[in-house]
Amino acid sequence: MNILVTGGTGYIGSHTSLRLIEAGHRPVLLDNLCNSSATVLDRIATLTGTRPTFIQGDIRDRPLLDRVLREEKIEAVIHFAALKAVGESVEHPLAYYDNNVGGTLVLLAAMQAAGVRTLVFSSSATVYGAAQQMPLREDAPLSATSPYGHSKLMIEQMLSDMAAADPRWSFTSLRYFNPVGAHESGLIGEAPQGIPNNLMPYIAQVAVGRRAALRVFGNTYPTPDGTGVRDYIHVLDLADGHLAALDHGHGRPGLQVFNLGSGQGHSVLEVLGAFSRACGRDLPCEIHPPRPGDVASSWADPTRAQAVLGWRARRSLDQMCADTWRWQSTYPQGYDA
Ligand code: NAD
Ligand code: UFG
Repeated sequence: MNILVTGGTGYIGSHTSLRLIEAGHRPVLLDNLCNSSATVLDRIATLTGTRPTFIQGDIRDRPLLDRVLREEKIEAVIHFAALKAVGESVEHPLAYYDNNVGGTLVLLAAMQAAGVRTLVFSSSATVYGAAQQMPLREDAPLSATSPYGHSKLMIEQMLSDMAAADPRWSFTSLRYFNPVGAHESGLIGEAPQGIPNNLMPYIAQVAVGRRAALRVFGNTYPTPDGTGVRDYIHVLDLADGHLAALDHGHGRPGLQVFNLGSGQGHSVLEVLGAFSRACGRDLPCEIHPPRPGDVASSWADPTRAQAVLGWRARRSLDQMCADTWRWQSTYPQGYDA
């Protein structure tokens, strides 16, 4: 299939595009490069022998979308493009509603006009808000604690309303838990700008000496060792989840929602321990107060994805750390350094 991948040069988009090529699809990557580098295209070419078609542009540019959908004969869309920093969304809510909600609105209108009716959407476990009961099933109550979370909820609502209005739409919303890791070659991975917000890239930068010590945000949570527990999922497992969702969803009417997680929780100190094993030395940490807005624990019930899509996460925490370390130690400054 010819598949438009919005946000295709980003962290998850690049790994998914690589998998799409390996599976015989033709991804067309559209990205405005606000949080990624075009260098990743060369790496995908090295790994697959195919340099994907790339269009530098914005999903809010309707004439551009009309042209791409038509000229590239697009049959389905995987929609990654979004801003994703929770804290930044609290400071700049309008930017998040404009980019994430407004951008998706333009994309859906262009798809409707072009008659392209299959879309796989990047949602997030953040739509479960401050849920207390674990593991999280898809039918758990939904809420949001940030404009970023609200933007994901609003988009899910848009998809649900559109699917109800016209049975020709085929939507899949994938609620990711905590994507980490890198391609096993070490050629592509996550390259956050500035100080990493997320745990794994922060630890990786401690390991290569870019940061002094991990700041552990809270050690008195009601968890086995007092630190926050999350469901980490290898980015290649996540990428494979998109292929499974596309196979299952294409041409199937309605909105389907799936958690993509491993179903297992790991604490901050467990992740630090696993990364220390991967890089071969004990990494330093300091205890800091809890980060505002963090929940103690979050992990998925991934049963539905396994039962319906035949997909499950396969890679272990040790492998997530080993692959992150290979990428980070080969390219300590990311793509363009
Ligand atoms: P990323 O920032 O690496 O990738 C997003 C890409 O979209 C970037 O390359 C960016 O340049 C591009 N982009 C942003 N706005 C755009 C626009 N208006 N037009 C064109 N391109 C635009 O992030 P990621 O981690 O790969 O996340 C991909 C998706 O998954 C996002 O929708 C994110 O909200 C969602 N998600 C990510 C996580 C996570 O922890 N990484 C967790 C849950 C959900
Ligand atoms: N943590 C630290 N130190 C750090 C970074 C994180 O101790 O420097 C801790 C956090 O307190 C949390 C755990 O590590 O307990 C994981 O934190 P991340 O920031 O890596 O991930 P979150 O679960 O907080 O956030 C992720 C996504 C968000 C999404 C959220 C809810 O990054 O986009 O899940 O789904 F909104």
